[in-house]
Amino acid sequence: MSVRILALVGSLRAGSHNRQLAEAAAKLAPEGAEVVLFEGLADVPFYNEDIDVEGAVPAAAAALREAAQGADAFLLFSPEYNGTMPAVLKNAIDWLSRPFGAGAFGGKPVAVIGTAFGQYGGVWAQDDTRKSVGIAGGKVIEDIKLSIPGSMTRFAETHPVDDAEVAAQLTEVVARLHGTAAEITAA
Ligand SMILES: Cc1cc2nc3c(=O)[nH]c(=O)nc-3n(C[C@H](O)[C@H](O)[C@H](O)COP(=O)(O)O)c2cc1C
Repeated sequence: MSVRILALVGSLRAGSHNRQLAEAAAKLAPEGAEVVLFEGLADVPFYNEDIDVEGAVPAAAAALREAAQGADAFLLFSPEYNGTMPAVLKNAIDWLSRPFGAGAFGGKPVAVIGTAFGQYGGVWAQDDTRKSVGIAGGKVIEDIKLSIPGSMTRFAETHPVDDAEVAAQLTEVVARLHGTAAEITAA
């Protein structure tokens, strides 16, 4: 059985380098794992308990929950916006954290990586994402870390999949996440 890893990307722009990292991760996934990029985050409304009503959840949020329910593991990609994760990623985490105690992260393994322009590669954003997704019910693999600095220059001409160092790092990230998810699903 293939391990399904859902990728959530915290940047909506078409040329996002974090999106490119997710595309590269999908290409580099080992046999027995598939990385599926969730495409609908731009349409998910801001989390609001008044609209999170059983049977009437907005379609885009319901689609996110359904994709997450079908996943065995999560790979989150965060750039850094003003020292933390972008709102789009936090919003996705909030939707997936409810119903309280029964959210779709449900103890499944989660790894957080990303790239940002600053010299630390968005490490604050990725650390904040780990904290939040852990509180939301994910089993965060704390020691999977990859924060790539200088996003706009490093990937200006080169897609991450064609950057040998980054491709090797991504391959290891996906392999470790796959290994953890496979152990859990086999148990
Ligand atoms: C609103 C905003 C805030 C930003 N704040 C930071 C920041 O705090 N630290 C940082 O390293 N880069 C920051 N940047 C630059 C982003 O890291 C850079 O644009 C990154 O490539 C965005 O990711 P993307 O290519 O996936 O869209 C910011 C960019 C924007 C648009």
